[in-house]
Amino acid sequence: MEILLTGGAGFIGSAVADRLVASGHRVRVLDALLPAVHPDGAAGVTLPPEVEFVHGDVRDAATVERALRGVDAVCHQAAMVGLGLDLDDAPQYVSCNELGTAVLLAAMARGGVRQLVLAGSMVVYGEGRYDCPEHGVVAPGPRLESELAAGRFEPPCPYCGTALRAGLTTEDAPADPRNVYASTKLAQEHLAAAWARATGGTVTSLRYHNVYGPRMPRDTPYAGVASIFRSALAAGRPPRVFEDGGQRRDFVHVADVAAANELALAALATRPPGSARAYNTGSGQVHTVGELAATLAAAGGGPAPVVTGEYRLGDVRHITADSHRLRTELGWRPAVAFEAGVAEFAAAPTRGAAPTRGAATPTRAAAAPSSDFR
Ligand code: UD1
Repeated sequence: MEILLTGGAGFIGSAVADRLVASGHRVRVLDALLPAVHPDGAAGVTLPPEVEFVHGDVRDAATVERALRGVDAVCHQAAMVGLGLDLDDAPQYVSCNELGTAVLLAAMARGGVRQLVLAGSMVVYGEGRYDCPEHGVVAPGPRLESELAAGRFEPPCPYCGTALRAGLTTEDAPADPRNVYASTKLAQEHLAAAWARATGGTVTSLRYHNVYGPRMPRDTPYAGVASIFRSALAAGRPPRVFEDGGQRRDFVHVADVAAANELALAALATRPPGSARAYNTGSGQVHTVGELAATLAAAGGGPAPVVTGEYRLGDVRHITADSHRLRTELGWRPAVAFEAGVAEFAAAPTRGAAPTRGAATPTRAAAAPSSDFR
């Protein structure tokens, strides 16, 4: 296949490029090399020599049109990720993620390109799945700052206040984006579904869970927790674990995510025209943020983590994947176990990051101790 890979110079995109090239696909990368994650510009890009590299922004229609020539499918990884600093980041998130996707889709419609794999995210669900012993599956309400400040991090049943049991989220869970980034990732899916209906195209959204691995950008407000912990340890500082460390996540290795992209691209041609389908992309293994910190610290021989009790208002408590659909429909099998992947990550290179306009996303201290997608 001839594939246009947007964001192909980034952490996940470059792993997808490696994988596709190794499988014999022709890959053209379109990447804006945004300074926040590419401080060294083109010099910092590590792509296989077979890749054709186009330096340009996905919001620039003329560039996208040129990049689409001769292409069978698009793998759209270009996005601004993370929680960001504050609402001043919102226009940039919307511009990169929503406008960028709209420009790409319009150019695909004009150019007759009908196959799309989208880098989706589990953030579209907001909180994960919770069961109340009395009321069954329930959606917890927004996290109240008064509760977080009192060190009560577990969301209660919205009907009876009972403690809930956290489970694995399936793709049919309702969307409930809880921060600006999440809302743009949901909008991307809606835009892509509208494109598919209008053009008879097919789109697959891979809803990534917490991706980690080599070439993850270093510590920025836009980086995930694995890279923040890794950067702290590299500087000889203990990882700072927010809340009580019991937040459940699914940490999935970037090589497994790249494999999911390859399978999703190959399956597009078999899908009905005009269809949109979402797949959770997680390892299926539940780990807490505290466990991640401890495993990384132990693997890297760094200082033991500290549990700070701080919290961020945009964070959800638990979100973990049921990835059966990806396994059964696309034949995906994650190959990297948590312990092995984290041990490798503890020693792997991360990519440099430029200073951002402020400090990290503000945290607050708790008083307590330490879609159309079916
Ligand atoms: C992350 C990404 C999101 C991505 C998703 C799926 C960020 C900010 N979020 O969501 O973009 O779509 O995975 O791949 O990149 N924490 C600490 N100490 C810290 C920083 C964070 O304990 O120094 C905790 C947070 O409070 C949270 C957990 O770690 O409970 C995960 O944080 P993070 O990786 O930032 O965000 P996710 O919501 O998991």
